[in-house]
This record gives sequence, structure tokens and C-alpha cells, in this order.
Amino acid sequence: MSDLPPALSLREVGPRDGLQNEDPVPTASKVALIDALSRTGVGRIEAVSFVHPKAIPQMADADEVWQRIDRDPTVRYSALVPNLKGAERALAQGFREIEVVVSASDTHNRKNVNRSTEESLDDVAAVVAAAHDAHATCQVIVSTAFGCPYEGDVPVERVLWAAGRAVADGADGLSYGDTTGMATPTRVTALVGETRMAYAETPLNLHFHNTRGTGLANVLAALQLGVTDFDASVGGLGGCPYAPGATGNVCTEDLVHMVEDMGVATGVDLDALLDAARLAEALVGRTLPSQVLRAGPRTRRSA
Ligand code: COA
Ligand code: ZN
Repeated sequence: MSDLPPALSLREVGPRDGLQNEDPVPTASKVALIDALSRTGVGRIEAVSFVHPKAIPQMADADEVWQRIDRDPTVRYSALVPNLKGAERALAQGFREIEVVVSASDTHNRKNVNRSTEESLDDVAAVVAAAHDAHATCQVIVSTAFGCPYEGDVPVERVLWAAGRAVADGADGLSYGDTTGMATPTRVTALVGETRMAYAETPLNLHFHNTRGTGLANVLAALQLGVTDFDASVGGLGGCPYAPGATGNVCTEDLVHMVEDMGVATGVDLDALLDAARLAEALVGRTLPSQVLRAGPRTRRSA
């Protein structure tokens, strides 16, 4: 495993992707979770999204959450937006990192943001320009990049086309979302390889859901190709209890626990992260899928 990078950069997405898929929790709970995560050493936190409150009621208090958290100057906080209106809201609130999301598959994009992939891509240039005018950065998230729950497999060429449009429009980075956990290591290797060849200069972040148990394997496959930017959610938060089979992101503490033992530094204090995971469980009132939280770190001895 000597070919692994010495370090990776995690973006904690539990407060956004996780909580948007749980029963709504009070604003104070969101603030407490973000504050706990800010103390773990994690480098990036996706704190909120600026979407229509009817689409995602769980994010209706984004402004207030952002105002109330204890911002740590060493953490890069970001907001997800679905369109220019969302970008303007995020930038007006002072965010200096935004992510605009577009699905590679048309059907998913229509269900998510009520327009075709092409229409969303037509908006990306304006979103990126608004960010740059505010001295902010804009990453373009291409979701359903490894498959769509409505359309099935999404061709690599289709993902590259969407990514290419984003790069041409000035995106500061790309993120590929495995929205419903359809990726496997072979697919990760294929898509990342093609992307690296086509857009070598553009930073690439990956976002896996552990829906079918391939999350950590996918991370390892990407690490072996030199990808160093990953999303993960504390406790494995997420996965609406009412959507059959839906699950959260790859679990942050499981990821940290694995890669640190393989010599890949994350900057994260595992004990502090486990405290945050316990808090996440208490806030949502259910047992989360985290495995390291249940079993403890690998060197923990039984009494
Ligand atoms: N935040 C708040 N309000 C917004 C908004 C945003 N980002 N974007 C549009 N609106 C408002 C418009 O101002 C308009 O308001 P009005 O009726 O008072 O004039 C209204 O919503 C309709 O605008 P329109 O552009 O037609 O939006 P839409 O109804 O087609 O909905 C989205 C599109 C993108 C706003 C909505 O589908 C959405 O928020 N989706 C997010 C889904 C999500 O978060 N998924 C998970 C993350 S990937
Ligand atoms: Zn997601």
C-alpha cells in the first residue's frame, strides 16, 4: 500500500446530507453538531444548503444555523446550492465556498431541481461567476455519477460531458456524487481515470453513499489513484427512514479509522469524532450505522 497518498482531506457532510435525510431536528441541535465537528480537526464541513424550504424543510433554518455556529478559523465551511438563487443566498450570508449540484441523469435532475441536466448546466456559468465576484470558490457536484435510481447505469461519457461543461464554465473543482450507492471500485477506477485524463488540472472530490456496502472499498480504490478529497458523514448519518434501502454517506469515523491505520493522515482526532457521532445519535434519536462507534477502535481491548 506504499502507493497511497500520505494524507487526505475530508469534508464532513453529516450536517447537510445527513440531516436533510433524517426527521427534522431543532436548530440548536444542528448548531451543536457542527460545533462538535469543528473541534475534531476535520478540514472541511458542508454546513447547510440553500434550497427551497418546501423541497427540503430540514434546511429551512440554514441562515440561522450558519449565524449561530462557533466558526473555527481552521475549518473551511461550505454550503450546497441548487441554482443561482441559492448561490446568492449563500454568498449574502458570507459563505466563501459553495457547491452547486447537477445530476448527470436527466430524470434525477428533474426530480431534484425541477429542470433538465442541460438547463442546470446552463446556469452553472452564472453561479460560478457570482461566486468569483464575491471572492468565493464554486465546486460543481455531478450527482448520480455512478448510476441513477430511475435510469440505471449512467454512461461515463455522460458524466464527462457534464464535468466538461462545468470546467469550461470556470468551476474551481468537481465532485462526483454516488447519490444512491451504485458505485463499485471498478466503476470508480474507470470514471476517475477518464476524468483525470480529460481534466487533469481540476481538483476532484468524491462523495459515496454506503447503500450497498461498497463505500470504503470505493474510497480505497480512489485513494490508490491519488484522489485525496472525500465526503463522509459522522455516524453514517442520513438515509431517510421512509425511503426503502436509502442509507447515509460513508461513515466518517469508519473512514478515518481505516485510512489512518494505512498511513494516510486525516488530521481528525478519532476520539473527538466518536464523541460527535454519539451526539449525532442522540440528536436523531436512533442508532446510526457507524461500525467503529459500536466496536471501538481496533486496538480497544475487551474487559
Ligand atoms: N432557495 C429558496 N427559494 C428558491 C430557491 C432557492 N435556492 N430557488 C428558487 N426559489 C424560489 C423562487 O424565488 C420562487 O419563489 P416565488 O414563487 O416566491 O417567486 C420559487 O422558488 C420558484 O422558483 P423556481 O425557479 O421555479 O423553482 P422550482 O419550484 O422549480 O424549484 C428548486 C427548484 C431548485 C428551488 C427546488 O427544486 C429545490 O430547492 N431543490 C433542492 C433539492 C435538494 O436540496 N436536494 C438535495 C440536495 S442534492
Ligand atoms: Zn449524498
